[in-house]
Amino acid sequence: MEENPKTKILMVCLGNICRSPLAEGIMRQKIEERNLHADVRSSGTSSYHESEPADPRTISTARRHGLDITRHRASQFAIKDFDRYDMIFVMDKSNYQNVVRLARNDNDRRKVRMIMNMTTAGKNTDVPDPYYSGSDGFELVYSMLDEACDKIADEIEKR
Ligand code: 4NP
Repeated sequence: MEENPKTKILMVCLGNICRSPLAEGIMRQKIEERNLHADVRSSGTSSYHESEPADPRTISTARRHGLDITRHRASQFAIKDFDRYDMIFVMDKSNYQNVVRLARNDNDRRKVRMIMNMTTAGKNTDVPDPYYSGSDGFELVYSMLDEACDKIADEIEKR
């Protein structure tokens, strides 16, 4: 085994075109800025948007904050992701149920966390689904995820 393996992070939402690709972009920037020994990817619990780029509103929100997520293509969460990732952050309670339902054991289950519990522990706050909202919804999602990703970066730094 590698002595100091990279921490592998997965961000998960429903469609993998709005919240989790933004979370991935934000986290990737923090990994680079803070020089963390970590990798990040994202997926969705549904296959609705398989292989599609992020929603245009997600791409423009990311760009406003200096992130290029144009290369993102949506993929569906799979059971083998429990083996590939160390930390699995879900955006809302529905994603949590959908991912935990696929867990094979306690080790799998322990990897899954509500992302906003990084800033408000134990509250199980949802990152609101912005798919049917205006651009305000995307900005709110950005600011929530930016705060949560800072906490994730802090945790990885302490490892
Ligand atoms: P996301 O948003 O889960 O943040 O990517 C959604 C995207 C698409 C749908 C729902 C939520 N949809 O129903 O197609």
